[in-house]
Amino acid sequence: MYFNFWYPICLGEDLTQDVPLRAELLGVRLVAFRDSNNTAHVLSDVCIHRGGSLSKGKVDSDCVVCPYHGWQFDGSGRCVSIPSVEGKKPPARAKIDSYPVYERYGIIFAFLGDLPEAERPPVPLIEEDGMDGWELSTPIVFEVGAYFERSVENGLDPIHNEFVHPAQGAPTVEDSSINVEDHEWGSSFEIAFGGYKQADKRQKVALTSDTETEGLRAGSWHIGPNTLITGIHLPENNSFVQYFFEAPLSDRRTKIFFVPTRNNNLGAENNEWINATYMNVADEDIAIIEELWPIGTPDNLTKELLAPGDAAVVKYREFLKTWENNGWRIDWSNMQNAQTNVAFAIPSPARRESGNWILDTVPVYTD
Ligand code: FES
Ligand SMILES: [Fe+2]
Repeated sequence: MYFNFWYPICLGEDLTQDVPLRAELLGVRLVAFRDSNNTAHVLSDVCIHRGGSLSKGKVDSDCVVCPYHGWQFDGSGRCVSIPSVEGKKPPARAKIDSYPVYERYGIIFAFLGDLPEAERPPVPLIEEDGMDGWELSTPIVFEVGAYFERSVENGLDPIHNEFVHPAQGAPTVEDSSINVEDHEWGSSFEIAFGGYKQADKRQKVALTSDTETEGLRAGSWHIGPNTLITGIHLPENNSFVQYFFEAPLSDRRTKIFFVPTRNNNLGAENNEWINATYMNVADEDIAIIEELWPIGTPDNLTKELLAPGDAAVVKYREFLKTWENNGWRIDWSNMQNAQTNVAFAIPSPARRESGNWILDTVPVYTD
């Protein structure tokens, strides 16, 4: 798992102004709450007094209030009130990590990391949003019993389609090799598919016959470790572009915020059958990735026998290595071993501005 990226925390509609909400990802506990302007905040959920869970407290005067002894923290993470020492200003050390938040597409995202704004990966963007002739569905949220890298790699693997989703056909590229293109925060590919059949007649896409293959293209793109975009371009300009924002809940569980977009079969009345089709396909993937072993991906490429069709997976792993070398990879085992007596926090941008923080930052892989 990697910090210094944007992660989906919860659906915007699930976060009211009344109560704070717990999110647990990357091995840490976070609390989300809304202030009276409806602005969402995401903070470390560990009260630095004696470990109270802020998400079990309440929201009052634009602060989240610890249920244990009533300390109040504002959206920036600063403690603004300690009721037992009323009249005294809380010490400068009374602060917790607060993360940049971005709310869009019905999702609250937080930048979990300490990079200054100019160095961060861009905020999650759905290019089709607002584009003429395109429609976004509301996010579909589901959990998978697999490590998030296995899930993203599945999306970067065009070869499995023929076997896991026989109705979708197979890539028609020579010897299954694919051209992967590098971008600043990830890589992408697009290839032609053949042998496509409409498994389900409810798919009203404009194919000219059951076995029409001409002009079918599909590809994937990862941005950072946890955003996967899949584009399916059927003949006659019928496209579906799917955005998967993935939150690693643990080393064996992932929460996926899925935003489907399309330029055909527009209208909310089509959402149900289209989403059901997507989820049928997702279930076929889930049945496979929940059984992969080891749970995570091996640290060494020689511990799997990779083939040309795994080119995008290899590229993805190269990017992960770069981010590990930056010191952004969380050492999950060490963190778990220490967790009985140590509460960790993902470093927030404020740690670059001031010192004297109570919680330790998460352990990371070092060479
Ligand atoms: S533990 Fe939060 S106020 Fe005491
Ligand atoms: Fe799949």
